[in-house]
Amino acid sequence: MPSIKDLDRVLVIEMVRVTEAAALAAAKLIGRGDEKAADAAAVEGMRMALNKLPIDGTVVIGEGERDEAPMLFIGEKVGTGGPAVDIALDPLEGTTLTAKAMPNALAVIAISEGGQMLNAPDVYMDKIAIGGGYAEGVIDLDKSITDNVTSLAKAKGVAANEIMVCVLDRPRHAAIIKELRGLGCGVTLITDGDVAGVIATTDPTTGIDLYVGSGGAPEGVLAAAALRCTGGQFQGRLTFRNDDERARAHKWGIEDLDRKYLLEELAAGDVIFCATGVTDGSMLHGVRRGHFGGIETESVVMRAKTKTVRWVKSQHIEH
Ligand code: FBP
Repeated sequence: MPSIKDLDRVLVIEMVRVTEAAALAAAKLIGRGDEKAADAAAVEGMRMALNKLPIDGTVVIGEGERDEAPMLFIGEKVGTGGPAVDIALDPLEGTTLTAKAMPNALAVIAISEGGQMLNAPDVYMDKIAIGGGYAEGVIDLDKSITDNVTSLAKAKGVAANEIMVCVLDRPRHAAIIKELRGLGCGVTLITDGDVAGVIATTDPTTGIDLYVGSGGAPEGVLAAAALRCTGGQFQGRLTFRNDDERARAHKWGIEDLDRKYLLEELAAGDVIFCATGVTDGSMLHGVRRGHFGGIETESVVMRAKTKTVRWVKSQHIEH
């Protein structure tokens, strides 16, 4: 039986097919005001493509638990057989963005050898992230927003008010936003899609230096997988609103509910991360008309081991 190490170079390209399939399916629902239909189309497209891959895949982060998600549920087996891999996926990261034809909706997947990614329950996670090139310890989830901005500004050699911070626009972030504004920082508010928000810190062309705030824990693991490939720092801590959420964490083997997870503890080993744009975004173009009469997709696929980042533009002809 080939191991993932024999196949990883092939899988890099195969994974593009998987996120392309999800993005193409979701794109038919862009701007149609129906989050559920867009998500369902992406899930079905991704699942069909995954089931053509020569892997023995297990979904560790998926659409939900078996009783609440009929497809791509946690624990579902996918692939035609081959090396055992764990899969974290979000066929449509940004369901509302897609329904409203707003930027930065993505189809996203990460794979690795078994046991390398945190089996994060569907709860919130407090997150902080920066791009590559900084010494370890510049950011710390346990420190205040002011301390983190001050430390990052010092490391970057700029004043605190020159730091641009990306935050999900939610009432729960009012205190964070107030503190940032008090420091004179720029605040980029996003309505959804914190995987793209975190990755934006790794791309100097976005102008975003820091990501802070709470969002989905599964999205945190996916973002961490991307940062393992691009470079950058990420820390996350699960947060729980009730006993049911705590029980979910225990079910997935998480004992220390207060643990602060570092990048490598969220996604270790030779992770491969892949995303295809659904709507236009800071990292990727969305699905659009192609040059030769087909439909064009743009994807990015990257490996933690080699740090190779590939942009793949494909044209698809509708049959
Ligand atoms: P969906 O695509 O599942 O709608 O998630 C979008 C998203 O914005 C994530 O990027 C983010 O992590 C999460 O929702 C934030 O959750 P909430 O909308 O409850 O604040």
